[in-house]
Amino acid sequence: MTNIFTGKSIKEGVKILARIMKESKYAVVLTGAGMDTESNIPDFRGEDGLWRKIDPRVVASIDTFKENYTLFREFYSERIERLNFVKPHVGHYILADFEMRGIIKSIATQNVSGLHRMAGNKKVYELHGNIRSIRCNNCGKEAEMEDFLSNNKCANCGEKALRPNVVLFGEVLPFNEWISAESDIKKSDLLIVIGTSLEVYPVNQLPMLSKGRLVLINKEDVDTYYNFDLKLIGKAGEILRELMEAYE
Ligand code: OAD
Repeated sequence: MTNIFTGKSIKEGVKILARIMKESKYAVVLTGAGMDTESNIPDFRGEDGLWRKIDPRVVASIDTFKENYTLFREFYSERIERLNFVKPHVGHYILADFEMRGIIKSIATQNVSGLHRMAGNKKVYELHGNIRSIRCNNCGKEAEMEDFLSNNKCANCGEKALRPNVVLFGEVLPFNEWISAESDIKKSDLLIVIGTSLEVYPVNQLPMLSKGRLVLINKEDVDTYYNFDLKLIGKAGEILRELMEAYE
């Protein structure tokens, strides 16, 4: 049976999570775009989500990259330039502290912002890549961000094929990151899922691989068939702050 806590009852739910964390030996975290909204990066399917305004298949797909590079580059340049102004929020730092103290083992994330690493987490599996690094889609060589933003050709092969290192619709996930996340989640006795609609395959299959307890921290209830043991409905940053206090 799922225990759901929201609003005034959140402190009670947080205390339960703190106890579960103390009991667990291998806790893993899975995050999505809702983890970054308090750092002012919009999510995709939430209230002000990016995909409510733009169809992802129109801008973030390998077909658009090949057929309408101008649109593709404009969309990603804007997203990259916004990142200059964002920083990890308190929730990211709390997760970094939890990893440093061995309370969580790793973070598997769908986020391409790099904020978990920036906050200090070391074991981060970036399942959808990282928007802050650029490669050439033709020769595979790493490239300078400035060249992508300035619409330059690849300095290595001369093709106009620079792109961020993110997974586009129509592409497979990075193999090593996926295998590592899958292996850690299979080993986990607690999986804390934070800020994701769990709508996107294959990452939405990962919660099913944990044989341990499943906890959701999300602004809204997104679950249809996951069997979460505990749900804390609210903002990730605020709940993690409460959790940090409850854990001590
Ligand atoms: P979504 O936008 O689908 O879901 C984000 C979830 O976080 C929603 O349920 C929000 O209600 C919730 N949320 C928003 N702010 C929150 C906050 N402060 N605290 C807690 N929850 C909050 O994002 P993802 O599930 O990450 O893929 O989306 C998965 C993938 O879809 C993305 O990685 C991206 C997108 O297409 C690619 O681009 C390949």
